[in-house]
Amino acid sequence: MGSLFGIRVVMLMLLLLFLTMECDAASRKKHVRVTNELGGGLTLKVHCKSEDDDIGLQVLPPNGFFEFSFSSGLFEITDFYCSFQWPGGFKWYDIYEDGKDYRECDKCWWVVRTTEYGPQPCRLNLSTGKYDICKPWNPKWAMSFY
Ligand SMILES: *[C@@H]1O[C@H](CO)[C@@H](O)[C@H](O)[C@H]1NC(C)=O
Repeated sequence: MGSLFGIRVVMLMLLLLFLTMECDAASRKKHVRVTNELGGGLTLKVHCKSEDDDIGLQVLPPNGFFEFSFSSGLFEITDFYCSFQWPGGFKWYDIYEDGKDYRECDKCWWVVRTTEYGPQPCRLNLSTGKYDICKPWNPKWAMSFY
């Protein structure tokens, strides 16, 4: 009887060890960077927040950037929402959402640049080395929760 109990304890401990290792493997470090490529000497103000973290207001001069890192995984669902402000414009964009971005990037580098549609967020495409993954801003009605 005693040894059966012992085997159960050992099995439970092995299970816990296995689960811990699985969680570690499923947690990845994410790096977000935002660079101001608006042009025209314009300053870009960016404010990113998650439920737990406030990155703080970042004032980016022309070609200036800021970056932050966080862990993302099975038990650390993370979404970061940012506001972007420049002379004459104010937009929101969900710069990182686990649901859509977990597989997309670890190095989530963005520029805000002036395209034919006006200023737009564009992400680095690791296979081309170019910021050619341009996204629309959040729609006007989808304001941040924070
Ligand atoms: C990155 O660039 C490659 C080559 O042009 C393209 O096939 C791929 O779809 C791009 N990735 C994304 C996420 O758009």
